[in-house]
Amino acid sequence: MCGIVGYTGAESAAPVLLRALKRLEYRGYDSAGVATVYAGEVVVRKDAGRVDEINARLKLESMPGTVGIAHTRWATHGAPTAQNAHPHTDCSGRIAIVHNGVIENYLALKKELLDLDHSLASRTDSEVVAHLVEEYLRRGEQLEQAFRKALQRLEGSYAVALVSSLSPEKILAARREAPLIIGAGKGFNMVASDITALIEMTKEMVFLHDGDMAVLTGSGYRILRIDTGEVVERPVKVVELTVEMAEKQGYPHFMLKEIFEQPETLRNSLRLQIEYVDLLAELLDRGRTVFLIGAGTSYNACVAGSYLFSQIARLPTLPVIASEFIPNYGASIGVDTVILAVSQSGETADVLSALEYARMRACTILGITNTVGSTLTRVSRAYVLQNSGPEIGVAATKTFTSQVLVLAKIALRLARLRGKIAQYEIDEFNSWLERVPQTVAEALTMVNEPVRRLAERIAESRVVFILGRGVSYSTALEGRLKIMELSYIPCITYPAGESKHGPISVIEGGVPVIFVAPPDEYRKQNIGSIMEMKARGAYTVVVGDASDQELKQLADYYIEMPKIHPLLSPTTYTIPFQLLAYYTALAKGHDPDKPRNLAKSITVP
Ligand code: M6R
Repeated sequence: MCGIVGYTGAESAAPVLLRALKRLEYRGYDSAGVATVYAGEVVVRKDAGRVDEINARLKLESMPGTVGIAHTRWATHGAPTAQNAHPHTDCSGRIAIVHNGVIENYLALKKELLDLDHSLASRTDSEVVAHLVEEYLRRGEQLEQAFRKALQRLEGSYAVALVSSLSPEKILAARREAPLIIGAGKGFNMVASDITALIEMTKEMVFLHDGDMAVLTGSGYRILRIDTGEVVERPVKVVELTVEMAEKQGYPHFMLKEIFEQPETLRNSLRLQIEYVDLLAELLDRGRTVFLIGAGTSYNACVAGSYLFSQIARLPTLPVIASEFIPNYGASIGVDTVILAVSQSGETADVLSALEYARMRACTILGITNTVGSTLTRVSRAYVLQNSGPEIGVAATKTFTSQVLVLAKIALRLARLRGKIAQYEIDEFNSWLERVPQTVAEALTMVNEPVRRLAERIAESRVVFILGRGVSYSTALEGRLKIMELSYIPCITYPAGESKHGPISVIEGGVPVIFVAPPDEYRKQNIGSIMEMKARGAYTVVVGDASDQELKQLADYYIEMPKIHPLLSPTTYTIPFQLLAYYTALAKGHDPDKPRNLAKSITVP
C-alpha cells in the first residue's frame, strides 16, 4: 500500500528520491521520509503528512549523501504519525529500512526482539525488520547475510529496501507478494515499488520475482534467492514510457487528464496481441465453470464482462468480488474451473489470495491487467495487458473503460470460436467495438459542460441513486463507486427493477435519481421506473441517446450521449459519471486525485 524507492550512484540521492516519492504518492500519503548515508552515518528525516509539506518543514531535499531510501505511507499498523513514518532504524542507528506490505508475525518477532533488549520506537509491523537485521549482525553475520536471514523470518508480504553505514554504497532490497522493480542506470541504480518512480531516470527495468533479494551499488546489482542464496538472472526490460506520460499534461488534476485521454488509451487497448486474446478465449471455452473476479472498479468491469460473455459469446460466467471468492466458491472449485482475474495493478491482495487458493486446486488462471511484470502476470496461465498506461489518479477511470473493451474483444473471439451467433452479428459488433475510441471522444465533448452544471446540484445532495438495467447495471455500479469515493456522498445502486422491492422507500422530494438508459430492449421498463420515481418527487436525471426525444421530455435533466451498441455502452456511458464525480469533488473542495482513506493499490488483504 505504501511506495518505496532507493537510489545509489554519484548524484545527490535526496532530490532524486523526492521526485520519485511525489510520483509514488498515489500509493499512500499519510506520512513520508528519507534516509541517506553520509560521512559514515545514517541520516533520517520523516514526518506525518504529504511529501511536499514534509519537505518544506524538514528540508528533505537538502539531505546529504549519494545513497538513500525513501517511503510514502498508507497506514496499516499504527496511526499516521511521525513516529510510525518510515524509514525505521535499528537500536544503533546504523540501519534504516523502508517497507511496503504487512509483516503478519510482527508481534511474535517484536516480543522476541524486546526480550533480546532491542528497543522499538514505533507501533508499526515494519520496524522489526531493522532490528532483526541488527540482531543477526550482533550474532556475527555480515550485512547481506544478516538481511537475508532476517527476511527468512518474516511472514506476510513485503517490498523492503535497506541502507546502512556498514556498507555505505549499497542498497539491499527484497520482495515477497509486493511489487519491487530495479531501475538500471548508467552510474547509478534504483529500486522502487513501480515504474512511475523510475522512468525519469531510466527506461531499463528489472522486475524482481517473489522471493528475490537484490544488492545494488552505483555500478551494478546482484539478485539472489532469499531462501537459498543462489544468484539468479532476471531479464532487463526496456519500458517505453516517457516522463510526460506520467505527468498531468496541463490538466489541473491527473484524474481529469486520465478521463480525457481515454480515446487514446482505448485505441491502445484495441491493439492487443491477438494470439493472447485467442488463447484466453480458448481456455475460457474449456471451463465448466467460469468466474470473473476483481475488486472495486475492476469488479464492476467483471460485471460488464459477464453480460458481454453471455450475450455475445453465449458463455455464462459468474462475476465475483475477489474478497468473497473463497468464502462463496472456494469449496466448489477444481480442475475444470477457469478464473479470469481483472486487476489494473495486478497486485491487489484480495485478488491474489483468491488466485493462490484457486491455483492450489488446479484451476486455470487467466488475467487482464495494466501492469507489466505484476504478480498477476506471473500467476496467470495466460494474460492480456490492457495497455492503458500508468494511472495516477486514485480513482480508476481510463483503466475501467479499457478493461471493458478488452473483455468485449475477448467475448467476440469467444463468439467466433463457439459459433453460436451469426457471422453478420459478429461483424456488426466488431465494427461498433472498433469505433469505441471515437465514440468516447464524442461523449467527452458532448457531456463535459452539462455534467459540470449538474455537479453543482449533486454536490448539495445527501444521497444519490444511480440505476440501470442489463449491462447498464455495471455502468451504474461504476458511477456509484466514482461518486462515492470522490464526493463522499452516499450512493445507492441496484438493477432498476429492484426499486419496488424496498429501496424506493428512501425516495422523497428532490432526491436525485440518475438512470443509465441507452437505447436497448429495456427502454420501456426504464420509462416505467422514471415515472415511478417522478411520482415520488425524485429529481430524475437520465443519461440516454441524444436522439431519444421521449426520454428527454420525461427527465428533469438529460445528458445526451452518442450512438453506441448497447452492450458496449459501459465504455461510454461511464464518462458522464467520471466527470460528475470529478466536478462534484471539486465543488465540495476535495482533492479528486487523492480521496481520503484510499490508496491506488490495495496490497493488503
Ligand atoms: O488494481 P486493481 O484493479 O486490482 O484495483 C482494484 C480496486 O482497488 C480499484 O479498482 C479501486 O476500487 C479504484 N481505485 C476505484 O476507483
